[in-house]
Amino acid sequence: MDLKSSKTNLRACDRNNQDKRFGTVGLAHAQSDTGASPMNDLIAQTIDTPLPQIRTVTSADASRLSALTAGSLHWMLEDDRPEVGICRLAAFAGDEPVGLLLSCKGGDDLQELTSVMVAKAWRGRGIATMLLSELMKQLRQIGRKGVFARWSSQLPRASEFARLLASAGWSQPQVTRRRMSWRIGDWPQAFPDRDRILARLEARGLVVRSLAELGADGIADFTAQNTALIAAGRAPEWSDTSGWLQVADQDATVVLSDRNGAVAGWMVCVLQPQFGRWYIPQGWVVAEKVPLGWLVGGIASLCRRLEAKAGPDAILIAQPPAGIPGGMERMLYKQFGDHTVATDFLFESEFVFASPEQCEI
Ligand SMILES: CC(C)(COP(=O)(O)OP(=O)(O)OC[C@H]1O[C@@H](n2cnc3c(N)ncnc32)[C@H](O)[C@@H]1OP(=O)(O)O)[C@@H](O)C(=O)NCCC(=O)NCCS
Repeated sequence: MDLKSSKTNLRACDRNNQDKRFGTVGLAHAQSDTGASPMNDLIAQTIDTPLPQIRTVTSADASRLSALTAGSLHWMLEDDRPEVGICRLAAFAGDEPVGLLLSCKGGDDLQELTSVMVAKAWRGRGIATMLLSELMKQLRQIGRKGVFARWSSQLPRASEFARLLASAGWSQPQVTRRRMSWRIGDWPQAFPDRDRILARLEARGLVVRSLAELGADGIADFTAQNTALIAAGRAPEWSDTSGWLQVADQDATVVLSDRNGAVAGWMVCVLQPQFGRWYIPQGWVVAEKVPLGWLVGGIASLCRRLEAKAGPDAILIAQPPAGIPGGMERMLYKQFGDHTVATDFLFESEFVFASPEQCEI
């Protein structure tokens, strides 16, 4: 993601968005002495509809907001861990919640917009725009650099969401990842030579160990080598596993090395209980080992271990960055793309806040 490419001016954008709706009658930006958000200070209303109020909501409100997001995200209504950095905003018409926006902390000082939903009867009146605008205001106050969203090409009404972001000044959506999922028990069709290929690679020097097999000392050694490979430019920054090892499955996460113990690759596997599936958030093999088939070998070993642990109905999902020559996405799609249970693309859009100097207009 090129964070420097966004030239959008937030202040101008926010003002446009605030003025755009509910502004036909009596729009005013009154200063509140209650400390409430300026959005709440808008005393505009349409001819017959009172202006919904945007409020920060807490985990205590979870049960009455759950209809306004997907079941798989209900945990975000209740999770108060500071490190997850969840920001929840709701729109209320009187006491009735009519819109909800959920976001959490992402990498690089950005916030991730995870969900925004407006009750059907209230759509098209600027409520999502108001929620977004309030989110941006709060994020700037807490010093985030910006906000991004990632969504599936299969998202129902994805075009409405994309238009919402575009009209709020976000960047043009880009396809960043191809997401593929497989049923582990389907491997005989998808990967008929799996065991033979793995045996051949191992005979030629590939050593694959799970975290459980490495043990504490082995994991410490792996972590040190992971860091050294990144420092030497032989692995990218994003392949740093330190953020994942705490949650990685000990039996299905694999480290690839040669017979001398020199680490040359790794594939992290994590259970996502809220989705009932297993996920590979990271997989990397150093360039010189890719032509030797180590990428395929790592996947073969991971799948075999996962089948032994979770059974044939386990679903494994990967969403590697799209379009990197020689990368994981090309390999997975070429080798196993015909046997997925689902494939989609992930779009990404962002809004990076202008620095204060750039905001002067
Ligand atoms: C997407 C959604 C949140 C928009 O909420 P909303 O309050 O109706 O949005 P707003 O009234 O603020 O409209 C903002 C922009 O969204 C787009 N939009 C809204 N409704 C739209 C529709 N029916 N068709 C196309 N675009 C639409 C428009 O670009 C609009 O701006 P514009 O009128 O200046 O062009 C709402 O349709 C919704 O809840 N959808 C279901 C949940 C969902 O798909 N969420 C997104 C993924 S998490």
